[in-house]
Amino acid sequence: MLKVKQLNSFYGKIQTVWNLSLEIDEGEIIAIIGANGAGKTTILKSIVGLVEKTGAIEFEGKNISSVSAHKMVQMGISYVPEGRKVFPEMSVRENLILGSYNKRAKLERSNSLEYVLDIFPRLKERIDHLAGNLSGGEQQMLAIGRGLMARPKLILLDEPSLGIAPVLTDEIFRNIEEIKKETTIVLVEQHVHRALAICDRGYVVETGQIHLTGTRDELETSEDIKEAYLGI
Ligand SMILES: Nc1ncnc2c1ncn2[C@@H]1O[C@H](COP(=O)(O)OP(=O)(O)OP(=O)(O)O)[C@@H](O)[C@H]1O
Ligand SMILES: [Mg+2]
Repeated sequence: MLKVKQLNSFYGKIQTVWNLSLEIDEGEIIAIIGANGAGKTTILKSIVGLVEKTGAIEFEGKNISSVSAHKMVQMGISYVPEGRKVFPEMSVRENLILGSYNKRAKLERSNSLEYVLDIFPRLKERIDHLAGNLSGGEQQMLAIGRGLMARPKLILLDEPSLGIAPVLTDEIFRNIEEIKKETTIVLVEQHVHRALAICDRGYVVETGQIHLTGTRDELETSEDIKEAYLGI
């Protein structure tokens, strides 16, 4: 579904991702794991055209390397950045509706809203609350929900559990499993153990390069991962 080929990413003159390739098949959850500053966010931003890059990005067989972030949404890729950016002065409902402005999503808006509220019952209960009054975890659910309102085929989630209370983190991971039934997912996570528990395959990124890749079972039993990330 998505192929990243020999990606090199740059912030001005500084290169942070080197010759990185990865592939995601339809229906999969792929985890991208790695330490702070490894380049996980940069990979997602490069996919959606928010960072200078060389290399090729293909989505459903089409080269999308120079497609704008806005157009990506129309093509079926939603990106949920780290740090749960919602509009605090707007209600939960208004925030969700904002996610459905592309042509395809507009037509399905009421179905999508129902779908999202089924996945996130907490948002349903708080539909008319101001987003700014939600807890951090609930705001994260809202950010993901807004991404889903675009009816993506592929959703890119950047650290959905960052800074969130453990109880809500558990809930978000269950929500992600629910989302998987209809949507292909790339999940960037520092919670390596949890990410491995729900992914089909994973990529371990170190200093802007793929250090290791494999199926969930391969990664969970890898001595490298146990030592570096799971503290076993
Ligand atoms: N806007 C920027 N300008 C310059 N360098 C940047 C910028 N954003 C990130 N970097 C650098 O690029 C490298 C990769 O950063 P990135 O944010 O992709 O890492 P990450 O794996 O997402 O880390 P974290 O787990 O902390 O979110 C880091 O060395 C970082 O300092
Ligand atoms: Mg990051």
